Amino acid sequence: MIGGKKKSIGLIFGGNSNEHEISISSAKTVYKAFNSEINKDLFTVKPFYINKYGDWLDSDNSEKILIDEIENKNTKKEGIFNQEKINFLQGIEFQNVDVWFPLLHGFNGEDGSIHGLLRFTKKPLVGCGIIGSALGMDKILMKTIFSNLKLPQVNYLIFQDKDLNDKQVRNKIINEILKKLNFPVFVKPSNSGSSLGISKVINESEILQALEKAREIDPRILIEEGLEVREIECGIIGNSKLLTSDIGEVIYESDWYDYDSKYHSSNKIIIPADIDSKIAKEIKDIAIKSCRALNIFGFARVDFFIEKSSNKILINEINTIPGFTKNSMFPMLWEASGLKIEQLVAKLVQISLDL
Ligand SMILES: Nc1ncnc2c1ncn2[C@@H]1O[C@H](COP(=O)(O)OP(=O)(O)O)[C@@H](O)[C@H]1O
Ligand SMILES: [Mg+2]
Repeated sequence: MIGGKKKSIGLIFGGNSNEHEISISSAKTVYKAFNSEINKDLFTVKPFYINKYGDWLDSDNSEKILIDEIENKNTKKEGIFNQEKINFLQGIEFQNVDVWFPLLHGFNGEDGSIHGLLRFTKKPLVGCGIIGSALGMDKILMKTIFSNLKLPQVNYLIFQDKDLNDKQVRNKIINEILKKLNFPVFVKPSNSGSSLGISKVINESEILQALEKAREIDPRILIEEGLEVREIECGIIGNSKLLTSDIGEVIYESDWYDYDSKYHSSNKIIIPADIDSKIAKEIKDIAIKSCRALNIFGFARVDFFIEKSSNKILINEINTIPGFTKNSMFPMLWEASGLKIEQLVAKLVQISLDL
């Protein structure tokens, strides 16, 4: 439990990832919540911004990004900050942190790398550990574990050791897709997020281009049968006991939930989703089961599809550092479930200390 002295929260954001901007947006929400009226006597935030090149900034300059005094676009590699001072392993900047709150989306962060680094500080952190983070980030491994558990998911194929420069290999891949999956298919890099690198492919002629796009992000590629689906999301918090939030549905105008529709359009979010209670219970059960299987705890958002034609539930993925932007479902799910953002961030810290 939180008591006594103010807790210093080491909020890490930005990151060397294609979700850099989203992370800044998420961090602004969380920063504000810790500095809110109900939290400001309990917490102080020590922000740490990692720029797009992977360089850490000191807390003072990091804070300026959160309060818009510095535009993050101007932080070039050789930029405005003294690199010498920001040496993680010398530990100067990091001694005064009580609890880490890594809010890095995507690779070089959400994939467990930051969790590994922070372990050496021997301080608790919001979120799960190295294994859960790495598995949650890697769609191929995540799906393989879901398959082992016989959790319902879409049909898929994995290509992870193929030389896409070889024409024969490319043709073999295309033939296998044609043989085993129905169009449309979704071509995805195994490691990414925010829909980056993903293409919806409606016929054979588009496959190669989609493979190229995916492999720019990750040469390990997942191809899924595309279904007509509703998109359903469930929040998780806790450690030895995992709690589920209400279930939400996101409705967008675009054909699928691509990057632009995630962050630049006015989606309709419906919480609780209009689904019957039996389906809601099943979704919550699968959400907990899947997090347990991947050793995911602290917080997470588990995403599902409901196939429109059959009403079948399919697990899509687990996000181990869910977004906290203005458009993000995770804080909305918890608000609908009785935890306002200010209460949610305090609860997440409490969970990290209760481990
Ligand atoms: N098999 C599928 N069938 C239908 N839509 C899909 C499928 N896979 C992905 N999509 C669409 O693409 C979006 C992003 O895919 P997802 O695997 O969740 O990647 P990300 O990790 O980038 O969010 C989904 O939210 C959905 O709109
Ligand atoms: Mg997704």
